[in-house]
Amino acid sequence: MKVSIVINQQRYDTEVASNMLLVDFIRDVAKLKATNVGCDTTTCGACTILLNGESVKSCTILAVQADGADIVTLEGLYTGDGTLHPVVQAFGRSHGLQCGFCTSGMVMAAVSLLSSVADGQVLTEDEIRNGLEGNLCRCTGYQNIVNAVKLAQDLLIAGDNIIS
Ligand code: FES
Ligand code: FES
Repeated sequence: MKVSIVINQQRYDTEVASNMLLVDFIRDVAKLKATNVGCDTTTCGACTILLNGESVKSCTILAVQADGADIVTLEGLYTGDGTLHPVVQAFGRSHGLQCGFCTSGMVMAAVSLLSSVADGQVLTEDEIRNGLEGNLCRCTGYQNIVNAVKLAQDLLIAGDNIIS
């Protein structure tokens, strides 16, 4: 089946098998390898991306269902001028990762969570934990991930832009 999908502002017009998962399209057709596959039960969140601005687990939908969609992956957060996205900065500065396998999905889930917050609203630690509950990490114990999201929130309130 023919699909037309925009990923990180680049359009991919191609034929795909009707049963191809979106995560496989991202990794194998677009050759964007930051988005990981960590399970086959739609539980881990390693495959989280933004689809039309909403975070979704890209292993849970078919590429054909994303026809016409606008997708952002972790690679899409890089500006090309060396400036790090505030959420990426915050994960690095707060040591919000160890092996890094969950990190792409965690960052994209955090971007989605923070972009859903009304201007001036500050998420509590519980709200951050609830917002990321669909993403699993086997290394960090989560505290530094929560710290990273708090720091990202501070950076954004201080005026950095966020992709939504
Ligand atoms: S690969 Fe685990 S939820 Fe998608
Ligand atoms: S940093 Fe290793 S799974 Fe999260």
